[in-house]
Amino acid sequence: MGAHSVFLILFSVIAIAIVVHGQGQAGFISIDCGSPPNINYVDTDTGISYTWDAPFINAGVNLNVSEEYGYPKNPVLPFPLADVRSFPQGNRNCYTLTPSDGKGNLYLIRASFMYGNYDGKNALPEFDLYVNVNFWTSVKLRNASENVIKEILSFAESDTIYVCLVNKGKGTPFISALELRPMNSSIYGTEFGRNVSLVLYQRWDTGYLNGTGRYQKDTYDRIWSPYSPVSWNTTMTTGYIDIFQSGYRPPDEVIKTAASPKSDDEPLELSWTSSDPDTRFYAYLYFAELENLKRNESREIKIFWNGSPVSGAFNPSPEYSMTVSNSRAFTGKDHWISVQKTAESTRPPILNAIEIFSAQSLDEFYTRIDDVQAIESIKSTYKVNKIWTGDPCSPRLFPWEVLLMSLFLYFAARRNLSSSGLHGPIAFAFRNLSLLESLDLSNNNLKGIVPEFLADLKYLKSLNLKGNNLTGFIPRSLRKRATANGLALSVDEQNICHSRSCRDGNRIMVPIVVSTLVIILIAALAIICIMRRESKIMYSGAYSGPLLPSGKRRFTYSEVSSITNNFNKVIGKGGFGIVYLGSLEDGTEIAVKMINDSSFGKSKGSSSSSSSSQVSKEFQVEAELLLTVHHRNLASFVGYCDDGRSMALIYEYMANGNLQDYLSSENAEDLSWEKRLHIAIDSAQGLEYLHHGCRPPIVHRDVKTANILLNDNLEAKIADFGLSKVFPEDDLSHVVTAVMGTPGYVDPEYYNTFKLNEKSDVYSFGIVLLELITGKRSIMKTDDGEKMNVVHYVEPFLKMGDIDGVVDPRLHGDFSSNSAWKFVEVAMSCVRDRGTNRPNTNQIVSDLKQCLAAELAREPKSNHEKKEVVKEKYTKTKSTVQNYSSNEYNSSSGSVSLSFGDYSTFGPMAR
Ligand SMILES: *[C@@H]1O[C@H](CO)[C@@H](O)[C@H](O)[C@H]1NC(C)=O
Ligand SMILES: *[C@@H]1O[C@H](CO)[C@@H](O)[C@H](O)[C@H]1NC(C)=O
Ligand SMILES: *[C@@H]1O[C@H](CO)[C@@H](O)[C@H](O)[C@H]1NC(C)=O
Ligand SMILES: *[C@@H]1O[C@H](CO)[C@@H](O)[C@H](O)[C@H]1NC(C)=O
Ligand SMILES: *[C@@H]1O[C@H](CO)[C@@H](O)[C@H](O)[C@H]1NC(C)=O
Ligand SMILES: *[C@@H]1O[C@H](CO)[C@@H](O)[C@H](O)[C@H]1NC(C)=O
Ligand SMILES: *[C@@H]1O[C@H](CO)[C@@H](O)[C@H](O)[C@H]1NC(C)=O
Ligand SMILES: *[C@@H]1O[C@H](CO)[C@@H](O)[C@H](O)[C@H]1NC(C)=O
Repeated sequence: MGAHSVFLILFSVIAIAIVVHGQGQAGFISIDCGSPPNINYVDTDTGISYTWDAPFINAGVNLNVSEEYGYPKNPVLPFPLADVRSFPQGNRNCYTLTPSDGKGNLYLIRASFMYGNYDGKNALPEFDLYVNVNFWTSVKLRNASENVIKEILSFAESDTIYVCLVNKGKGTPFISALELRPMNSSIYGTEFGRNVSLVLYQRWDTGYLNGTGRYQKDTYDRIWSPYSPVSWNTTMTTGYIDIFQSGYRPPDEVIKTAASPKSDDEPLELSWTSSDPDTRFYAYLYFAELENLKRNESREIKIFWNGSPVSGAFNPSPEYSMTVSNSRAFTGKDHWISVQKTAESTRPPILNAIEIFSAQSLDEFYTRIDDVQAIESIKSTYKVNKIWTGDPCSPRLFPWEVLLMSLFLYFAARRNLSSSGLHGPIAFAFRNLSLLESLDLSNNNLKGIVPEFLADLKYLKSLNLKGNNLTGFIPRSLRKRATANGLALSVDEQNICHSRSCRDGNRIMVPIVVSTLVIILIAALAIICIMRRESKIMYSGAYSGPLLPSGKRRFTYSEVSSITNNFNKVIGKGGFGIVYLGSLEDGTEIAVKMINDSSFGKSKGSSSSSSSSQVSKEFQVEAELLLTVHHRNLASFVGYCDDGRSMALIYEYMANGNLQDYLSSENAEDLSWEKRLHIAIDSAQGLEYLHHGCRPPIVHRDVKTANILLNDNLEAKIADFGLSKVFPEDDLSHVVTAVMGTPGYVDPEYYNTFKLNEKSDVYSFGIVLLELITGKRSIMKTDDGEKMNVVHYVEPFLKMGDIDGVVDPRLHGDFSSNSAWKFVEVAMSCVRDRGTNRPNTNQIVSDLKQCLAAELAREPKSNHEKKEVVKEKYTKTKSTVQNYSSNEYNSSSGSVSLSFGDYSTFGPMAR
């Protein structure tokens, strides 16, 4: 009630306040996230006009902070913090900001978070913030009353800026307030121009500060914090200082106070440590002379960073404020800025204010923001709104992927479109889907002419318009693409003529009426399907199943039978069934895993309530989810089959088979230590993605060399993941060890307790690593015919410190023993008895990369020739390693470990 009346009072002041403050806040976007509908008010503390947030987002729920932290118990709580919007659903939820100055300009974006136990759970969440597709920072709260403020300076690449909260499995993201301020685009420059954003680390008013400096004192509404260590003195002035001389415009109250050292000869020093030595820092130091210097007095200052000069000597002006910054980024672990007086100076140095930022590179994909807008537009054309589920993995899904995924799910959910009618013109916005590679509009009821804008899709490789009622001619530009650029264009010759002269038809672009369209975005995007399934089309060929992402499809049993040439060639046998080789119409080789009747039958039998159609339905749901899981180190799905009789998962075929066979074949002679390390890292990354990139995590349950596939470049991919999701443990508990685990790989803890978690996979992976280094099987026969586990095989050698005894003799001693030792250490830590003592997959990936680094850094063995070879190998692999990291950044977890020293995308100091 109390808070409510505060609201009403505030509300009544609003009209006047907006008039008073309105003009000063031109271009400001100030959002009180989570506030009740239609509320606009002026915050009495700051004079800033806040609005409710529904116009900027359509996901999440509004909640008030708990009584303990809110009004009236806590009357000093800033108004915007009293309520939050939280996002229990979806991995990524984005606010859409449309700054009035438009694209190409610099903006300050600030997000505030106060938990205030709004959900009554007393659990502090941790989550990530993104601006468009670019990682901004992680939000971590120390207690429920702390107001965490994050700020970034970023150039807008498009008219719309998406500020996204990303759930990383550590609690529900929420936000209290979101603000955007237009900046002068010619300030806060760096040597990278517009290619970086600056994330605020500290903004200090050195010396004394009376207030916060923010709006209206600061036209940009920056928030300044006081900073004055005991060894510093404060000077201030009441005189006039021109702050408009440069674009930086420090507020009066900030520039008119300054710090100086207590003792005249001392410098002013600031230092900080970065956990990531690659983080690039920029400091902006503000100066103005505040004292009336006598004729024989002077103040001359030089700035040093870690002992090297950042600036030449200069005299602060008594008339205006000046800003000095480093032209090249500061990098390294320890940073130490020293403001010193020169030998000629009679007065000590001063410092009026300082800002320190760290730079975040913009993702190279930022230009694809056009796609996002196109999809936004398509979304609104077809009135798709609140479908934000999508990929169960990929917390870092790009917004357009989320959007495509939403579209996909939306259309997939609506099988019968004849009555719900997705009629209407093809949104012109399709033209902006610049990454579209293949567009299949065949067998629809399209009318009108072939629109010219299709020719603008510059990556388009195939366009199928057959089976429609299109008329007119093919636009010249499209024809040109077809002849010159290899665009595969299919049209019905009888209706459409190839040149303008043949028919006088509709010259004006008539919107195409769509009742069915199938769009496949092969460029790792998703498929958008609008379906109208009538039985007559059902057997007419491709894409007759439900909508699947990225060109993936649902197969019928007879199709499966035909692509495997009647189950002709068996290429493997796994826990769930037999794997057959097949090939698609276009010749692509695939592996078809037929799901065992027995696992099917058992799961059916164990629960009387689940009919076979129920199981089939579950399979379908899970299979479709699995199809959305992407990672370069996971065998990718091509589709699945489930027609009531049979279930199958269809994978890409990997030319070099599985690792188990490879290791025991002659090929292993050429499998160098470095190649083995790459295979280990690849598979660890695949596993890492299942464990940490997916929510809920996917536990593989059958990690083994036979489930690690190698493509023709010997890149490793994990196969058979997710089947444990398809057949939940409950249904199979009595057969788990028999069916799921493979002897030699089963985690003893899991075996004894039946408690399954990621660490069980880690155990099995440890065995895989031991097989890689020893070249032995997980269970081997000793000379006296006994069976022996590879762990027991390795142990005696380790006790004696004999690494050469452990390592596969086929390597002929050609490996770095540091690397091998480290590798064995990692492997042995994975097979520790207790799961809690085993490392997690993030750790394993990072350790294995260190093994690779050690191997690459190895001194070449002897002669000159060898040296050259190694050198070439080094440079080659170095670029591979970098590919890993960039790839991971796109698809997997955020912190990346390079093998050349640990690298985390962001250091704690910037959090
Ligand atoms: C939050 O508090 C305001 C003011 O008392 C009230 O109008 C609103 O309904 C509350 N919202 C929720 C979700 O409880
Ligand atoms: C919450 O954390 C902040 C920052 O560490 C601290 O200043 C504040 O005193 C803490 N509040 C409580 C109630 O612990
Ligand atoms: C920014 O990136 C673009 C594209 O990579 C590059 O051409 C340009 O030189 C970069 N600008 C600066 C200042 O680094
Ligand atoms: C601090 O600010 C308050 C109100 O703005 C003012 O009354 C006071 O004189 C200021 N104190 C100093 C030392 O400037
Ligand atoms: C932006 O700053 C530059 C120099 O720093 C100045 O010349 C320009 O007038 C400023 N623009 C605006 C709109 O204040
Ligand atoms: C710093 O302040 C102290 C006490 O206010 C004063 O005695 C001392 O002279 C000052 N130092 C300088 C360098 O101004
Ligand atoms: C500057 O001149 C004044 C007298 O005008 C004198 O008291 C002071 O010591 C001189 N200072 C220096 C540094 O020479
Ligand atoms: C094409 O349009 C004509 C009349 O406009 C209609 O009779 C015919 O069925 C349509 N064909 C298809 C394939 O929809």
